[in-house]
Amino acid sequence: MTPPRARLYTTPMPSWFKKRGASGGTSPGDLVPTEIEEYAAVCSAAESDACKLIRAETYRTQDCPQMVVGPLEGAFLKVMALAVGAKRVLEIGTFTGYSALAMAEVLPDDGAVLTCEIDADSAAFARRYWDKSLHGKKIHVRVGPALETMAALKGPFDLIFIDADKANYVNYYRRTLDLISPTGVILIDNVLWSGRVLNTHDPDPSTAAIQELNRVVASDPRATAALLTLRDGVFVIKPNPR
Ligand SMILES: C[S@@+](CC[C@H](N)C(=O)[O-])C[C@H]1O[C@@H](n2cnc3c(N)ncnc32)[C@H](O)[C@@H]1O
Repeated sequence: MTPPRARLYTTPMPSWFKKRGASGGTSPGDLVPTEIEEYAAVCSAAESDACKLIRAETYRTQDCPQMVVGPLEGAFLKVMALAVGAKRVLEIGTFTGYSALAMAEVLPDDGAVLTCEIDADSAAFARRYWDKSLHGKKIHVRVGPALETMAALKGPFDLIFIDADKANYVNYYRRTLDLISPTGVILIDNVLWSGRVLNTHDPDPSTAAIQELNRVVASDPRATAALLTLRDGVFVIKPNPR
């Protein structure tokens, strides 16, 4: 039998992926049937009114609204923040501020989410909606290329959520290992990329970057990881004791 890690390099494209064409699906929800995702969300921590508002405004005004993690993954982020007793959270990729607010909502009053965003308009959008929430004061956004922001940061962070440009995923992961607390957890979003990670024949640059990240994490002796089939795929990574 082929060992799991070897299969990362050899799995052919599944028939359902081929039928949908090389671009795959357009919505991260494609991997899980909508009814199942909605059922799971109903059974999970409720979405706050402020997060609902951000999601509605994002879908009304933005070109790629599906980039917000949404209620089920938002609930997952909350559970992870609570599970590690997070006080300091780092997020790479703010967009309209949904996931940052979801995490801030479960932090203690002296907790903080530092979130990195390259686009000043997105950061301003997010700020407008965070200001409508009691928890918004816990969120601090740094505008600029996240790698530059991260280079100047001092750890430790209890939870780090990576959800930005795929080309830099391996760079973000490597820097994150320096910044995460020994008791913390790293989460990386979109690591199944609507199933395109199975395309080993002619992957586009973003797919190739995610495939590389998945290989790096799967073979990293410094960490223990599980790739969850939650929404578009979420890596949950625990640093090993040093
Ligand atoms: C998928 S969205 C983040 C969604 C957000 N986490 C949520 O669920 O509400 C990715 C964001 O990363 C930002 N981004 C892309 N490249 C970046 C970079 N080099 N540095 C910082 N942010 C970047 C994009 O502008 C975009 O807003």
